[in-house]
Amino acid sequence: MIEKEIKFTLRTYQSPSELSKQDAELLSAAKAALDNAYAPYSEFNVAAAVLLENGKILTGTNQENASYPVTLCAEGTVLSAVSAIYPGVAVKKMAITVKTNKRTLTKPAGPCGVCRQRISEYENRFNTNIEIIMMAEEGEVYWVNSVKDLLPLSFSKSDM
Ligand code: THU
Repeated sequence: MIEKEIKFTLRTYQSPSELSKQDAELLSAAKAALDNAYAPYSEFNVAAAVLLENGKILTGTNQENASYPVTLCAEGTVLSAVSAIYPGVAVKKMAITVKTNKRTLTKPAGPCGVCRQRISEYENRFNTNIEIIMMAEEGEVYWVNSVKDLLPLSFSKSDM
């Protein structure tokens, strides 16, 4: 038996002011989009902003449905928008932020498992990495270099 240890690198920043200008701007774009969420059921707003290789920034937010499983996550809506508006353009970075009117959130939320798989597909499709920047309303910022850091042993075309 061989036991392997798989490590990943997580950068934490005390505040967005420590980020590069580009990362801070992307996070600001995500935060500015939070009010576009349609989350009457969870009252948990999620926004994702992506920086594309052509320099454009697009945002997406969670879109809920009375039939709960029909809900779309913010990460999924923004990646669908990229595919619809800029097909063939790679995503360089994604910023994700969350907010609720129930309390002040201070811990960054990572993308759900399904969205990790969606981001992974995007990385594989363009053979690139997507940096992911995460922050709640207040508190630390988390940064990973690739969704591979959040989704080890991921399933991809190469497995089929
Ligand atoms: N949500 C996202 O938008 N992205 C995630 O990665 C996790 C969850 C949304 C879905 C739902 O509208 C709300 O957060 C609560 O689960």
